[in-house]
Amino acid sequence: MQKLALTWRSKGRRVAFVPTMGYLHAGHVSLVKRARRLVGPKGTVVVSIFVNPTQFAPTEDLSRYPRDFARDKKLCREAGTDVLFVPKDRDIYPEGFGTYVVEEKLSQSMEGASRPTHFRGVTTVVLKLFNLVQPDFAVFGAKDFQQAAVVRRMVADLNVPVRIVVAPTVRERDGLAMSSRNKYLEGSLRAQAVVLSQSILKARAAVINGHPVSAEQLRRELQAFIQQQPAARVDYIEFFNPDTLEKIEQVGRDAHMALAVFIGNTRLIDNASLRGGKI
Ligand code: PAJ
Repeated sequence: MQKLALTWRSKGRRVAFVPTMGYLHAGHVSLVKRARRLVGPKGTVVVSIFVNPTQFAPTEDLSRYPRDFARDKKLCREAGTDVLFVPKDRDIYPEGFGTYVVEEKLSQSMEGASRPTHFRGVTTVVLKLFNLVQPDFAVFGAKDFQQAAVVRRMVADLNVPVRIVVAPTVRERDGLAMSSRNKYLEGSLRAQAVVLSQSILKARAAVINGHPVSAEQLRRELQAFIQQQPAARVDYIEFFNPDTLEKIEQVGRDAHMALAVFIGNTRLIDNASLRGGKI
């Protein structure tokens, strides 16, 4: 992969990269299309599929993470991918592997607090993938808002010569953010999962008149709303400054909201600005 990337570089070809863990859906496809727009018809679009073991805790769903390579390949081709990079675990983490990349500020809260080793795995694999693919642009989804912020921070801190582009969250018709993990939602769980995006709409409604609301009170209200769903259990609900990820105590329309909720055994996340706009 790196050899190929170096030949592109020497020819001055522009490269846009979309890292994924596969089991692709319309959210991933939107990133590939954005990548194509960034480099134009003469540029090169690379998609990687790698279910990165280091970003999963031992208790998480690594072994049952959904996979369908034939379908992924077809979707990538249709979306305009030039190169599909699918390394094996041993290619990325060879025997004796011992170096990790850790972002220590933005990765502490929310996903980082609930999944303490998660972002270490993400930053490590993303930097490795950047070194292999050597892209001019890398496209990430706003669905994983904190991940995009952590990757941006890493790229700035370590002088990685890549432009990070963040594309909007793609949703199902009822508002559920698309996710490979939605596959786990069987029976009545799928309908209950809509409570995440509905919570964001509810929070927006609470601040729409411009008067700030206490984070504590809003969190309590949303918790009660979410718990009306029999299979739902809140992991966190946070209101924060979208640039610094610092918590906000008095929540207004300038706040960003993120939440993680278990629907049965499936942990789902969502986020959006409370200013409004498309959800
Ligand atoms: P994965 O969950 O496969 O997501 C790959 C990319 O697709 C991420 O940038 C994610 O934010 C984006 N994405 C997922 N669902 C989306 C949606 N509904 N709308 C828009 N974009 C969406 O995120 C990862 O993989 C991994 O952590 C990775 C960055 C590949 C590192 O292993």
